Amino acid sequence: MRIRSAQRVRIAQSTPAWHYGEYILKILVLHGPNLNLLGSRETDIYGTTTLADIDQGLVKLGSQLGLTVECTQHNSEADLLKEIQRAPAAGFAGILINPAAYGHTSIALRDALLSVQLPFVEVHLSNIFAREPFRQHTYLSDISSGVVVGFGPQSYFLGLRGLAERLGQPGQDCLHL
Ligand code: DQA
Repeated sequence: MRIRSAQRVRIAQSTPAWHYGEYILKILVLHGPNLNLLGSRETDIYGTTTLADIDQGLVKLGSQLGLTVECTQHNSEADLLKEIQRAPAAGFAGILINPAAYGHTSIALRDALLSVQLPFVEVHLSNIFAREPFRQHTYLSDISSGVVVGFGPQSYFLGLRGLAERLGQPGQDCLHL
């Protein structure tokens, strides 16, 4: 299934690929199953922030970091695989992913991420290590550039900062020791 453009959030359609002589890196943000329900789903665990709020925040932070951010959510594993597989040809430099439940089950997602060889950061809103045993392992963590868990929506923003740093595009507040 082709992804409808309405499902994507970008800084602007007209965002130039080159900005003040520097290439603007594109980041793909992938949200897994049931994250479309954020805001009303198990609010004691996931809070009341909606996915649209998170996407808006990511696009805004991305622009501050000199990144173009595109966000998309899929309930189907096959659709997530298609997104990952098309990412290199679509010009993405890295992936920020909350695989949600598929993180705990999907060797296929792991294989897709290994295949495309793009740096990626795994995020989870909740602290998966403080939850049920089946949530305490993911098939992505050990092949990721980094993992951020337990900070609610901030997990995404911290993850984007980490990915930017990894791609050589750190924010001004990034401390280099
Ligand atoms: C989640 C944690 C997963 O265990 C769960 O299946 C989700 C959300 C999180 O962001 O905390 O759907 O990925």
